[in-house]
Parts: sequence; structure tokens; C-alpha cells
Amino acid sequence: MMAVSCSSSENTDVFDLSKAAQRWSSTEKNWNEDELRALEQGRGIYWKNCTACHGREGRGNVTIGAPSLVNNAIIKGDVSYHITLIKKGKNQMPAFAQVLTDEEMLYVAAFERNAWGNHDYRILERTGD
Ligand code: HEC
Repeated sequence: MMAVSCSSSENTDVFDLSKAAQRWSSTEKNWNEDELRALEQGRGIYWKNCTACHGREGRGNVTIGAPSLVNNAIIKGDVSYHITLIKKGKNQMPAFAQVLTDEEMLYVAAFERNAWGNHDYRILERTGD
């Protein structure tokens, strides 16, 4: 079960280790505390910068042409392409190079790659530190 929900009343700035561990709990991956912090930070970044178009459940918005990120080829594909897209934008997708740091772009990508039934358990190991 990987249901990730972001509610507007939730304070995403305060890190709660036990809540985070519960939210990201998986039988296949034991996230360490740093990874949980990164996922939670990514979740907060997503909430502030991405939900307007992609929705809090990642389902996108047909009216503005924002694709669903659920079962999405780019989310499942190459990490550097995914992060470059966030950095540079594309068509109606804004560029975040001036808005987010490289670390924040990695965290939001890590969030997307593990939310809504996506499972890229290695992203934070691979690109970490
Ligand atoms: C103003 C609306 C808008 C916002 C805000 C936005 N996006 Fe997008 N996003 C789009 C659109 C439109 C596309 C499709 C771009 C294209 O290929 O033409 C897209 C595409 C994407 C894709 C590729 C998916 C695919 O199948 O093409 C990813 C990944 C993505 N966005 C992540 C993010 C992240 C992460 C954020 C927040 C940091 C974000 N987006 C914020 C509109 C938005």
C-alpha cells in the first residue's frame, strides 16, 4: 500500500519520523531516516509547486494538458531525463531551475518516483550524497 495523500491542512515543513516511516512503509524497502526526510521534503515541494497542474494524486489535468504522473513512462524512465525536464520545463510545463535547488529537484523527483504506486527504491541511493 503506497497511497500518498497530501492535504492542504497538513504541515509539510515539520518532519515526523514515525509518520514518515508509516507513510512510506514497504515490504520491499527499508528507507533510512535520510531517505525518509528526502521523500517528505519532496512531498512538500510537490505540494507547493506541482499540485496546481498535476493534482495531489498525480492524475494531471486534461484542461491544461498536464499529464498524469501515475504509471507514467517518464517517471518510470531515465532519472536524468526526468530531472532535466523539471529543471528546464517543456511547453506548458514551467522550468524550475530558478525556483528549486538541484537537491530539491532530486527530492521532488524521488517523491514522484515513489508516490501513487510508483516504486523506484534506488533513486536516493543512486544519486545520493
Ligand atoms: C503550470 C502547470 C504545471 C506545473 C506547475 C507543473 N507541471 Fe509538470 N507538466 C505540465 C505539462 C503541461 C506537462 C507536459 C509537457 C509536454 O510534454 O508538453 C508536464 C510534464 C511533466 C512531466 C513529464 C510527464 C510526461 O508524461 O510528459 C513531469 C515528470 C512533470 N511535469 C513534473 C512536474 C513537477 C515535479 C512539477 C513541480 C515541481 C511540475 N511538473 C509542475 C504542467 C505543469
